[in-house]
Amino acid sequence: MSERSQFTALVLEQDEVSKVTSRIQILDNNVLPEGDVTVSVKYSALNYKDGLIIQGLGRLVRDYPHVPGIDFAGVIEQSESPEYKPGDKVVLTGWRVGEAHWGGHATRARVKSDWLVPLPEALTLKQSMSIATAGLTAMLAIMTLEEHGLTPDFEGEVLVTGAAGGVGSAAVSILSGLGYTVAAGTGRAETHKYLKNLGAAVIVDRAELQETPKGPLASQRWAACIDTVGGQMLANVLAALRCWGTVASVGNAGGIEFTANVLPFLLRGINLCGIDSNTCSKARRIIAWNRLANEMHFDKLDNMTNTAPLTDLPRLAGKILQGQIQGRTVIDVHG
Ligand SMILES: NC(=O)c1ccc[n+]([C@@H]2O[C@H](COP(=O)([O-])OP(=O)(O)OC[C@H]3O[C@@H](n4cnc5c(N)ncnc54)[C@H](OP(=O)(O)O)[C@@H]3O)[C@@H](O)[C@H]2O)c1
Repeated sequence: MSERSQFTALVLEQDEVSKVTSRIQILDNNVLPEGDVTVSVKYSALNYKDGLIIQGLGRLVRDYPHVPGIDFAGVIEQSESPEYKPGDKVVLTGWRVGEAHWGGHATRARVKSDWLVPLPEALTLKQSMSIATAGLTAMLAIMTLEEHGLTPDFEGEVLVTGAAGGVGSAAVSILSGLGYTVAAGTGRAETHKYLKNLGAAVIVDRAELQETPKGPLASQRWAACIDTVGGQMLANVLAALRCWGTVASVGNAGGIEFTANVLPFLLRGINLCGIDSNTCSKARRIIAWNRLANEMHFDKLDNMTNTAPLTDLPRLAGKILQGQIQGRTVIDVHG
């Protein structure tokens, strides 16, 4: 068998008692799923959702064996699409790749060409995976806040919760680069210096954000918020938003349920917007990727990025679910 007829992947399998295990395997190309483009994957990434999938949690994967990896960047090897030719550099995030379709924790992937975005010229393949779903989601959240009127001269700080995580780090870095005063909400004291270096003006302890206000409204503090934590923290943030402020609800690292009241909406005109990077339209993705290529500070991106090989994924999956990963982890699938 030649190298071109086989590929290496992290393969998840489920045993008779539904336990999911993972192992690096060499597979033949003929087991690749259907799709009109085949991509030689160079880099992938580690996200919270990858952690859930690798550990078999959240019922995200229904069919095994499965190859995880919700993001990848690589070079087109074969294409039946008029949009792409061999040698083109591409990026994929979302569309339930790595969940319902085999993903990027492999040296080769076959997918639908509609799911791909051409790599912006200003980015390397590796930089694009340092950004990946986390950075794209941060940018989609920022675009949503701006569409609801946020500008850097809006009074108050822009809060980012779960700030030291992947989405949070990207959000802190981009927002501060755009001239916003960023408050970074974190539960880890050891990340304070890192967050300041990314551009946070103020650090807010997670415990403070978890304190439920005494009444239906708290003192007005936040101009806007990118919330990666969810749960009751989201309700607390809504009560402390300034008039006409907006929360972009991105994640649930701290839980899915919250109890809130309507008064901040009625008396302060606030907005609560959902962000879904998975199903976001291709046109909006391309706008977001081009903004990322122009507005991301590459030195800060380097500072927030660690690189690991495929073989390290099972260990890292456990760490990200325990909230122990700082910033972004790029997976060098050939490493
Ligand atoms: N909507 C979308 O399209 C989209 C896209 C990507 C990710 N997400 C979601 O966004 C969230 C963050 O993703 P990520 O990849 O950035 O994950 P991550 O790197 O693990 O970051 C999550 C951060 O949340 C904080 N956190 C963790 N457990 C917590 C808890 N129990 N209570 C309060 N805070 C906690 C930690 O930040 P500190 O250490 O700073 O406190 C952690 O670093 C996840 O829920 C993910 O599923 C959604």
